[in-house]
Amino acid sequence: MKKTCLVTGCAGFIGSHLAQTLLDEGHAVIGVDNFASGYVHNMEGFKDHADFIFCEKSITEPGLLAQLKKEHSELDIVFQLAAVVSVPYSVEHPELTMQVNFEANRDMLDAAREMGLSNFVFAGSAAEYGEEERLPVKEEYADDAEQLSPYGVAKYKSSSYIEKSGYGCALRFFNIFGPRQDPTSQYSGVISRFVDFGLAGKNMVIFGDGEQSRDFLYVSDVVTSYLIASGLDREGRGPLTGVYNVGTGKGRSIRELASVVAKLTSAPQEIDFRPERAGDIKHSRADVSKISARGFKAEITFDEGLARTVEWAGK
Ligand SMILES: NC(=O)c1ccc[n+]([C@@H]2O[C@H](COP(=O)([O-])OP(=O)(O)OC[C@H]3O[C@@H](n4cnc5c(N)ncnc54)[C@H](O)[C@@H]3O)[C@@H](O)[C@H]2O)c1
Repeated sequence: MKKTCLVTGCAGFIGSHLAQTLLDEGHAVIGVDNFASGYVHNMEGFKDHADFIFCEKSITEPGLLAQLKKEHSELDIVFQLAAVVSVPYSVEHPELTMQVNFEANRDMLDAAREMGLSNFVFAGSAAEYGEEERLPVKEEYADDAEQLSPYGVAKYKSSSYIEKSGYGCALRFFNIFGPRQDPTSQYSGVISRFVDFGLAGKNMVIFGDGEQSRDFLYVSDVVTSYLIASGLDREGRGPLTGVYNVGTGKGRSIRELASVVAKLTSAPQEIDFRPERAGDIKHSRADVSKISARGFKAEITFDEGLARTVEWAGK
C-alpha cells in the first residue's frame, strides 16, 4: 500500500538512498533538509519525481511536523536522519548538537505519537557506546556507557527517549559506506577517504598499526533496515519498536580495507603509517542478534560494496 513518508536529511548520503528506494517502491516522499552537510546533487535521481516534495527547512523549526501534516494529511511515517553528523563539530558546538540531535527528535517523536503516525524511525549511532571494550556490542551496553562527544550523548538521549516512550524505533548504525558519502567532510568515513586517495594515486594513510577494526555496512543494507523498521518491507518483516544495532556483526581491519581499496583503484600498495590518534577506538563490532531475529541480514559483501563504491567514485 502506498504510504507518504517524511525523510529528513534527504539531501545527505543515507537519506538520498532511502528517499530514492521509497519512491522506487511506489511510496510518496516529503524531503526536508537545510543543506548543513547535504547537497542538491545527491537528490539528482529523484528531485523531479512526481511523488517527491522538497522543503528546505531545519528540523529544529517549532511545529514542523504539525505543519507538514496539515499540508499533507496522508503523511504517516517519519524517518529522522537529519543531524549534526560531525563529531569534531559537535565538540565545538555542543548546544546546537543537543538542539538538532536530541531536542528536535524528542519534539518530533512526541508530535508523531500524538498525531497517531504509524512509525517514527530515528538514526542512532555506534557513538552511543563510547569506548566499549565488550565485543560484540549489545544494545544494553549503551546504558552504562560514557559517550565521548556531544554527538554521542545527544544520539543516546534520543534513542533512550524513544525506547522509554514505547513508540518509534532507533537504529544504531555502525560504519556505513557507499556511493554519495562525502570524502571531503570531516566526519567522512575512512572508506570514502581511502577511495579518494586510491583514485588520486596516493598512498593510503593509516594512523596506528592498522589492526583497529570496524563493522562496515553497505548503504543499501541500511535502506533495507529502514524498510523493516518502518513496516514497509515487502517480505513483511517489521515494523520495529525500541533500539536495534544495525551492522554486519563482523569486524574488518583498516589494513585489510586499505589493501582491498588499493587493488580496486590500482593505487600504490604502500601505506603511510602515522602515530595512533588519541581517542581512537581500537575495535568496534555490533551484536546484531536483535535485528537478525526480526529478519535483517546484510546482503552486500565487503568486497562487493567496495567495488560499487570505487566504481561510483571513479565516474
Ligand atoms: N554515515 C555513517 O556512517 C553513520 C553512522 C551512524 C549514524 N549515522 C547517522 O545517519 C544519519 C545520516 O547520516 P549521513 O551519513 O547520511 O550524513 P549526511 O551529512 O550526508 O546527511 C545528513 C543530512 O542532514 C541534513 N541536516 C543536518 N542538520 C539539519 C537540520 N537541522 N535540519 C534539516 N536537515 C539537516 C544535512 O544537510 C544532510 O543532508 C545521521 O543522523 C547520522 O548521525 C551515520
